Amino acid sequence: MTTDNVYDTKTIYYHWISAAIILLLWFVGQNIDSFEKGDPRVIVRSLHITFGLILAIVLALRVSWKVRGGEKLPQPEGIQGKITQGTHHLLYALIGITILIGIFAVWVRGDNLFNLFTVPAFNTTDEDLEDNVVELHEFFANSLLIFAAAHALLAVWHHKILKDGILKRMWPSLK
Ligand code: HEM
Ligand code: HEM
Repeated sequence: MTTDNVYDTKTIYYHWISAAIILLLWFVGQNIDSFEKGDPRVIVRSLHITFGLILAIVLALRVSWKVRGGEKLPQPEGIQGKITQGTHHLLYALIGITILIGIFAVWVRGDNLFNLFTVPAFNTTDEDLEDNVVELHEFFANSLLIFAAAHALLAVWHHKILKDGILKRMWPSLK
């Protein structure tokens, strides 16, 4: 297996921009309720939603680039390669599902974006539905973070212990 290749620049940018936005979304999401009710909370929640929508656009561009022309590098033979690819597909799926449930949560709750736009709630009488959808969103967001952390630890293990150049494929300037 050749590991001295690197991914193309677009693939690398999409990877690190997505990772940064996901971390930001997670930290902001966790802390929305610690902001005072009223304007501060509306602004933080609106920022979370805006960055969530930006992530949706980045994900669409990223997947279409991957399918259309993004560099495809060889994966390990056999079961190890299948696990690697399976984990990558799972990460893509978790990002997509978390985004979709987030958008659904906005619709179910009804939201006010930066005090500029109002998204009407589709059902104001069912508070359980609202709580369940936000909890589901949180469950997928946490699952995504757990798998991404395991994935990052494995990448560091490849770099430090196996020294096989895998991390450099996504981080070419790394020494
Ligand atoms: C991978 C992307 C995302 C991650 C990691 C993420 C993460 C989170 C987390 C951790 C929470 C806190 C849940 C809680 O403690 O109750 C949350 C809440 C929320 N998220 Fe996301 N989110 C993402 C994308 C989105 C998107 C795309 C939208 C909508 C466009 C969205 C809308 C919301 C809403 C409406 C809440 C509830 C806020 C509240 O309870 O005040 N999220 N998110
Ligand atoms: C939220 C955080 C992250 C997510 C969601 C994520 C997701 C992904 C996905 C979906 C791929 C597959 C790319 C493809 O072939 O289409 C990938 C590849 C990769 N990621 Fe991440 N990643 C994250 C953070 C990190 C971090 C922190 C590191 C390093 C410490 C890292 C290192 C790598 C490497 C080296 C590859 C390429 C593996 C190979 O050559 O086959 N990732 N990542």
